[in-house]
Amino acid sequence: MNARFTGQTIIVTGAVGGIGSAIVEALLAEGGRVGLVDFNAQAGQAYEKELQKRGHDVCFVPTDVSHFEQCQAAYDRITRELGAATVLVNNVGISPKTNGRALKVWEMPPAEWNNVVSVNLNSVFYMTHLATPHMVQARQGRVINMSSVAGRAYCDIVAAHYAATKAGLIGLTRHWAAELGEHQVTVNALAPGRISTPLLKSVPQEINDAVAAVTALRRLGTPEEVADACLFFASDQARFVTGQVLDVAGGWLMT
Ligand SMILES: NC(=O)c1ccc[n+]([C@@H]2O[C@H](COP(=O)([O-])OP(=O)(O)OC[C@H]3O[C@@H](n4cnc5c(N)ncnc54)[C@H](O)[C@@H]3O)[C@@H](O)[C@H]2O)c1
Repeated sequence: MNARFTGQTIIVTGAVGGIGSAIVEALLAEGGRVGLVDFNAQAGQAYEKELQKRGHDVCFVPTDVSHFEQCQAAYDRITRELGAATVLVNNVGISPKTNGRALKVWEMPPAEWNNVVSVNLNSVFYMTHLATPHMVQARQGRVINMSSVAGRAYCDIVAAHYAATKAGLIGLTRHWAAELGEHQVTVNALAPGRISTPLLKSVPQEINDAVAAVTALRRLGTPEEVADACLFFASDQARFVTGQVLDVAGGWLMT
């Protein structure tokens, strides 16, 4: 078994969700200590207990990442309990629909727009702002941002807030890669296609089947397949890779 993360603390946001928990499992399997950030307190506490029973070093902090003070409290508690983090996975993301449909610009309540910007984009600034001082000082760090192919190409399944925030993450990734490079901190993004997680249930099954039919690999992806790509960026194998966006999409949209 590889153990690329022995002795390292990694923070994962949206850690209780489909892709987040697959990333957590993969990191733990390779020896990492993992700080779990998610606002689903009940599921998070149960997951933390289960992981601790399995002998893993984890710390769950119920957090609404759209609030800076909550991100600060989560970061402080995790680093106090598990040690300073050298890897940050900004995985959290939401893609709201109304009756399975993405709202058009004239239909979208500003409150929904603001919420998606807060969760998908502002939280990534908050967490990276908190985590990078230690990485810079340690001259070691990895930031991985969870974008989407919908941030790279037009995709009619999602609404504009989702596309805009996921495209925004690509801008942040390149900008921060340039800012942090001289400190030996890398910043990369993943752009998953359609992955089988609870997030997909926001649209009717036919829509997901139709996407699978037009991918090169003719199927949806699994959370574990996204986790594999995430661990590459998080690991020493990717030490000379920064400012990049990797599609994990089975050949869907091929941006
Ligand atoms: N599933 C896909 O097909 C797909 C495709 C492309 C990109 N992505 C991206 O991958 C990431 C993970 O998606 P997923 O499919 O695992 O989603 P998911 O819905 O399974 O998990 C999202 C997690 O984020 C948590 N969360 C939501 N709002 C939060 C908040 N305000 N504060 C803290 N936690 C919050 C939820 O409780 C949940 O555990 C997201 O950024 C998503 O945009 C997913």
